[in-house]
Amino acid sequence: MKEAKVKKKKKLYEGKAKIVYETDNEDIYIQEFKDDATAFDGQKKGKIKNKGTVNNQMSGHLFNYLENYHVPTHFVGQQADNAMAIHKLEMIPVEVVMRNIATGSLVKRYGVEDGKELEHPILEFYLKDDEKHDPMINEDHVVSFGHANEDEIKLIKRYAQKINAVLKSFFFRRDMLLVDFKLEFGRSKSGRIKLGDEISPDTCRLWDVESGEKLDKDRFRQDLGKVEEAYQEVLKRVYK
Ligand code: TMP
Ligand code: ASP
Repeated sequence: MKEAKVKKKKKLYEGKAKIVYETDNEDIYIQEFKDDATAFDGQKKGKIKNKGTVNNQMSGHLFNYLENYHVPTHFVGQQADNAMAIHKLEMIPVEVVMRNIATGSLVKRYGVEDGKELEHPILEFYLKDDEKHDPMINEDHVVSFGHANEDEIKLIKRYAQKINAVLKSFFFRRDMLLVDFKLEFGRSKSGRIKLGDEISPDTCRLWDVESGEKLDKDRFRQDLGKVEEAYQEVLKRVYK
């Protein structure tokens, strides 16, 4: 795996699952993944042992993999077990969700049958705002609120669809169904749209192909037990 040689400096920002630090290179940050887990906009709190390491390593592996498919990402290289160096991005406060199988909020909102394979992947936008419970928005909201222009949205949608196609088959070869996932994008110094944040069992739903067993954060959200084991199992399969 690529390694980055930058020195960690001042803490810039701490979120629910990650901490961002400045480095001795002004264009590069370090994002450190915590074992802290939250759900339902931070209302449910807990810890998942070694989650930080799993999410960092899985994200690094998948960012690297996606770059081979010409999806630009913020990944620079690994910096520690639970931390990676990333290109500084101006983040767009929109969560891009892609769905292949109906579950979660889709089922609650529209009453579709849980587990139904969708005829066509669904792409949704949510405003990243915990206090407002991440309300669903459409492209007009994104443009009108000034978060991204139409060309940027077009590109974000194209990247999200490509990421879905690439990762669906990546996980299927590892006996997992990519049910749905959440992406966040940002702008580099030169204005280029890049994939940011993370790709991990915190942000993807993954079901075992054979047993249908949930191998992601739903185990924590729904108190299903064996949470740490599921994260480890996903990482093991990602490395296969
Ligand atoms: P949802 O069914 O709860 O809307 O979740 C869709 C996908 O987005 C699922 O893979 C989990 C992920 N997700 C996040 O990464 N962060 C969030 O805050 C939420 C609500 C979902
Ligand atoms: N990440 C969100 C939170 O902490 C929601 C979730 O993943 O369920 O609240």
